[in-house]
Amino acid sequence: MANPSNIKVNPTVIIIFGGNGDLTKRKIIPALYNLFLENRLPEQFAIIGTSRTDFTDQKYRDSLLAGINEFSRTGKAKKEQWAKFSSNISYQASDIKDVASYNEFDSKINTLKEEWKQDPSILYYCAVSPDLFCTIAENISKSKLDNNKETTRIIIEKPFGRDLESAKALNTKLLTIFDEKQIYRIDHYLGKEVVQNVMAFRFANTIMEPLWNRTHIEHVQISVTEQIGVEDRGGYFDHSGILRDMIQNHLLQLLCIIAMEPPVNFDADLVRDRKVDVLKAIRKIVPGTIDTMAVRGQYGPGWVQGKEVSGYREEVDVAPDSNTETYAAMRFNIDNWRWQGVPFYLRTGKRLFKSASHIIIQFREVPHNMFNNGEQNVLKQNRLIISIQPDMAIRFQLESKIPGLEMNLNTVDMVFDYSVKTKTDAPEAYETLLLDVISGDQTLFMRADQVEAAWEVVMPVLDYWENNTMNNFPNYPANSWGPENADALIAKDGFHWINLPDKK
Ligand code: BG6
Repeated sequence: MANPSNIKVNPTVIIIFGGNGDLTKRKIIPALYNLFLENRLPEQFAIIGTSRTDFTDQKYRDSLLAGINEFSRTGKAKKEQWAKFSSNISYQASDIKDVASYNEFDSKINTLKEEWKQDPSILYYCAVSPDLFCTIAENISKSKLDNNKETTRIIIEKPFGRDLESAKALNTKLLTIFDEKQIYRIDHYLGKEVVQNVMAFRFANTIMEPLWNRTHIEHVQISVTEQIGVEDRGGYFDHSGILRDMIQNHLLQLLCIIAMEPPVNFDADLVRDRKVDVLKAIRKIVPGTIDTMAVRGQYGPGWVQGKEVSGYREEVDVAPDSNTETYAAMRFNIDNWRWQGVPFYLRTGKRLFKSASHIIIQFREVPHNMFNNGEQNVLKQNRLIISIQPDMAIRFQLESKIPGLEMNLNTVDMVFDYSVKTKTDAPEAYETLLLDVISGDQTLFMRADQVEAAWEVVMPVLDYWENNTMNNFPNYPANSWGPENADALIAKDGFHWINLPDKK
C-alpha cells in the first residue's frame, strides 16, 4: 500500500544481488525508475547492482537503460531524466559467497553516510536463485551489515522454499539474523492494482458485506491463465511445476483476499493475521480424495497465433519424459461460518488459449423466477467479475429489463473499468512493492507463518503428484483451455469454468 506522496522517506541504499539478472532489468530497475519519475524515491538514494560479471558503472547503466527502454510501462527513458536517475546507480562485481565482497558494500555505504550526513535505510534485494538466499543473509550478518534493525531490510523473491520443510528451514535461518519486520517476502500478485482494490471494494462499501457469504455466494472461481510456455525457464520450472510456481503463492493469496474477514485496520500484521486465518480454515485435502480435488496437466505441441510451438517435454532444459505439471485446477473448501459449503475453484496453466487473470464470484439463483415466460426469461445468476489483467475492471452482472413493450430481461454489466476511469496508467506491481519496502510497510508482503500455512495447504497434493507419475502426459494441446478432466472437476458440482470474452 504505497505511502501518500507527502510522506518523506529516509535516504535509501538498495543493493541488488543478481544485479545483472533478468528480474533486475525487466522489473526492478524499471519500477525504481518510474518511482523516480513520480518523485516517490527519497531525494538521496543509491542503487548498487552486484553480480559476478565485470562491468564499469557506465556499462552497467547502459545495460539497465536497454531494459527500461524495452520493459518500462512509461516507454523509453527520456535522456535528461535517465541521466539524473542513473547518476545514483553504481556497480560492484562480487562473489556472493565471499564475505570480503560484503566489506566493500560496507565501505560504499559508509561513504554515502558521510556524504548524506544521515543513516540511510539499507535494502538488500535477493534477486537470485533461492539456494543463495541463506548465503546472502549469513554473509550480511558475518560482515555486520545487519547492525541496525530499524534501517536494514532484506527482500526475498519467490520461490520461498520448495516445500513446507524447506520453507520452515529458510524462515528459521532468516529469523536468526533478521527480525520478521526486516524481512520482505515478495508475492508480486499482491502489488497488482486490481488486487489491492479488492480490499477497498470489500471493506469500504457497506453493500458488499451482507452479500459476501455462503447465503448469497454459490461458488468462486480464480483463474490465472497464460498463453506463454515456460520460455527459457525450463530448468527452473521442471523442478517446480505450476502448483509450486503459481498456486502455493499467487492464487492462494488471491483466495485469501476474497475470503478473509475484515481486519480491524490496515496494520500490516492485522491484515496478514486475517489471511492466515483463511489458510488455516482451508479443509485439508486427504490422500485418497486428491484426484477428486485436484487435476494436473502438461501441454503438448500446437499452434499459437499462427506459430508452431513445442510441447513442454521438447522445451529447453526439460526432461523428455517429464512428469511436471504445467496446468493445475483445484477445488478448495473453507471450513468457517462465512464460507461453509461454498467451493473455491482455482486454475492456472501455461500455453493456454489466452493470458488472463480474473476472479469470479457467482451469486446464488433467485429463490423464485417470477418473470419466467418460457425460454425468454431464464434468469442468469448474478456475477461479480474482478479482472486483474490484461483488462483491469470490476463488473457486476445483473439482470435487467430490455427496453420495450414486453417484460423481457437480459444481463447487463455495471462496470468500473480502469482504462476509462483513471487518467494515469496504473503502477506496476513492483513499483508499489518497492515503495512499500522503502517506506517500511509490510502489508503486501508474506509473513513467515503465511508462507508456511500456504505450503501446508498444497503439500498433500504435491507429495501425491510427485509420487504418482501421469502416464497420459502431455494431456492438453497448446492453445487450449487445459485438460478435459479439469472441466470434469468443476462439472461434477454442476458448474463450468467461466472464460471471459475479450474486451470490445
Ligand atoms: C511468476 C511465475 O511468479 O509469475 C511465472 O514464476 C509466471 O511462471 C508469472 O509466468 C506470472 O506473473 P504475471 O504478473 O505475468 O501474471
